[in-house]
Order: sequence, then C-alpha cells, then structure tokens
Amino acid sequence: MPVYAERQGRIGTENAFKIGPHIVAVESRGTPVVKLNLGEPDFSAPPWVKDEICRQVARDNSHYCDPKGIPSLRQAIARQVNATRGLSVTPDHVCVFPGGKPSIGFTQQIYCDPGDEIIYPSPGFPIYESFIRYIGAVPVPLHLDEDQGFSCTADQLAALITPRTKLIILNFPSNPTGGVATRDQLGALADVIQTRCRPEVRVYSDEIYENIIFDGRTHLSIASMPGMADKTIISSGLSKSFAWTGGRVGYAVMPSVAEADAFKNMNINYFSCVPPYNQEGAREALENEQSGPWMADMTRTFEARRDAILARLNAIEGVTCQRPGGAFYLFPNIGGLCERIGAFEAFGRLSPETRAATSPATLFQMFALYHHHVAVMDRRSFGVIGAEDLHFLRISIAADLETLGEGVRRLDAAGRDAEGFQQFVARGEHLS
Ligand SMILES: Cc1ncc(COP(=O)(O)O)c(C=O)c1O
Repeated sequence: MPVYAERQGRIGTENAFKIGPHIVAVESRGTPVVKLNLGEPDFSAPPWVKDEICRQVARDNSHYCDPKGIPSLRQAIARQVNATRGLSVTPDHVCVFPGGKPSIGFTQQIYCDPGDEIIYPSPGFPIYESFIRYIGAVPVPLHLDEDQGFSCTADQLAALITPRTKLIILNFPSNPTGGVATRDQLGALADVIQTRCRPEVRVYSDEIYENIIFDGRTHLSIASMPGMADKTIISSGLSKSFAWTGGRVGYAVMPSVAEADAFKNMNINYFSCVPPYNQEGAREALENEQSGPWMADMTRTFEARRDAILARLNAIEGVTCQRPGGAFYLFPNIGGLCERIGAFEAFGRLSPETRAATSPATLFQMFALYHHHVAVMDRRSFGVIGAEDLHFLRISIAADLETLGEGVRRLDAAGRDAEGFQQFVARGEHLS
C-alpha cells in the first residue's frame, strides 16, 4: 500500500516558493543574490491599513467570524467591484479567502468533474495548471502569443472550446507577462464564450493586478461585457494592490448568491474564516480615500522601472522583450541568448529524465543564479504543457532601479559566459 494517495502525484506547485532555498544556498556562501524573482511589491502596506489591523487586534477582534467574510468587508468589496466594473452585485455574492489563490482550486473543485476540460492561460499563474490534474480534469492551455502583447484572440479561444469545456480561466493583467486585454479583445472573447459554450460554463477572471496598469489605461473586466456577469467569477485581492502579500486577504465575486455560498462551504471545510483583524484592515484599504492615490504612486514607480529596464533588456544580444501593460513583470524571450551560449545543445545532451524536469531556459536560469548571482523565474514555472519550444524568463521589477540595473547587468554577463555555462551543465548539479 503506498503512503500517498494517487492524486497526490498529480498536483504541481509554485516555483516562486521553491527557488527560495536555492537563493539561501548561494547566499550562504557569502554572495548576495540580486532577487528579481519576487512576486510581491517592494513597498510596505499603507500605514492606515497597518494602523487598523493593530487597532482591531488591540480590541481583541481575534475570534471566529463569518466564514463568507465579515459583512463590512463584503460590502466594501461589492461597492468597489460595482463602481469599477459597472455591475450590481450584492455583498452576498462575495466570498473572502486567505489570499487570491484559494479560489483557484475551489473553483475547479466546485464546478468541474473528472474529465471536464479547463482552458487556462499559458504562460500563466502556475496554480491554474497545478490543480487541474489533481481534480482529474483535463488541462487545455490557451497559449498567449508574444506577437499579440501576450493577449489571445477570440479565434484562439474558439479553437479550444469543446462540449467538455467547463471552465475558462483568464488573467489580465497577466502574471507572468504583464499582458493586458483591450475592450475589443474582451468583447470578442465574450462573444465566443456566449455563442460556443453551454450556459453552465464559468469564466474565472483573475484580476488580482487590477490596480497596476500602465500608460494611462484603466482596468477592464470580462464580467463587464454584455451577458458575462452571470457566468463570470471575478477574483481579486489585497496582496498586490496594497503590497500586503502576508495579510492573506483575497476575494471572489460569484455570479449568484448560491454559488458564493458553495465557496463559503469550502471555507468552512478548510479554514473556517479569514482572521477578522486582517479583514478589517482590508476594509480600511478599500474604503480609505488615501488608497487610490497611494496605489497610483506605486503604479507610477513600476511604470518608470518598466521603461528603464525594458530598453536595457532589449539591448542584450539574443533577448527581445515586449512592453507589459500592467502587473510588475517583464517576460523576455531569451531564445537567441540560449542559442548563443549553446543551451539547446547542452539540453539535448542531458538524460531523458533530466530533460523532462528542465528546459534550456531553466538551465540558464539556474546558471545565472549559481554563477552570476541573479534570481529570475523560467518559462516552465508558468505552465509546462506545450511549452517545450518556448524560451522565456520572468523578471520582476519589484526592486529599486539600481538593483534592477545590476540584475540585468548580471543576466547580460551570464549570457556572455558560454564557457561557464557549459561547465555548469556538465557538472550536473542544480539543473532544474
Ligand atoms: C495571477 C495571480 N493570481 C493569484 C495570485 C495569488 O495571490 P495571493 O498571494 O493573494 O494568494 C497571484 C500571486 O502571485 C497571481 O500572480
């Protein structure tokens, strides 16, 4: 009898958490690493949020509370979602979770049976793909096209829809590409979904980067397209917008109150409730009038960094990088660089088992970390299925300009160090 259940072998992970020990290992040798791997803003949560949490803890607001989320926070969320998306949801449509992440797995568990097909963006947040096989559903990656600013066309989506399609996951602004969809693109996607999918099909729209959008644009949700509100789950949270990843407050707005109650029951089964003092902090974040300007300031900082670093990345031979419209990541294509340092040949010489767990871009990522002391993420960290011939890195711009400049300098140096790269791969350590 095996120790683990069979399904345990089918769940994936989020490599952003796996790379930490590698960084610790490198730094324990006395070399500081430039960390451009981080998926969290390098800001502190606003003081009015922190003050509110302290106030709530001091008044002993630290007991069980409503498993769906405290009413005052759900009210603030409904108000914000209605104002920004032109909807008319009630607080009862809202469910609060410990972060934006839990509703990804809950959505798959609540709506999908084994054999159902789930369409999800690739590259995309790894938890989408990680959960699909775990629940016995069928992963159908929607490959985002570099040439289209990492958005997708309605035709691309239409080609993937079948009678078994049950859930469609979208994420704009996107992690890891920073891609943002236009109103026309969202409208066309909505048309396809309404004409090709059965009414029971749901769209999970991950909008956690909704407040980090560049070039004077504002956030658009597919839920705002005609006919989409009653089939879209809007997911968002406080982690990115308020630089508050450790607060663990996220939420989703469901198409019906009954569906929101199904999520509430998952909360009851898994963790009962989200700490009430943090929920009060989240309410304060959404209601305080200083929050809008605060988020706009943070976004301006990310935008300035994007502009400064994009040019420097594109100046590296063999690297081409699109201009992201939001979030805080750059997603350069390093196919030319991989060619230049012989990563394809080195990859080809590996054993089939090693090859299955790595890629040319992963080899470069690990080489850059261990030998040039700069941490970034590889393409494989954002969906593996169908990504064999795609050679990208994700660079987080959640670091000051000096650090970013030094990180890009180190990536450039790593890209010129073909000899060091070949020796690193030949040594056979840390290849995945
Ligand atoms: C697209 C996307 N969705 C969800 C999450 C999860 O956010 P949280 O930390 O609030 O769980 C992340 C975090 O990186 C993300 O990038």
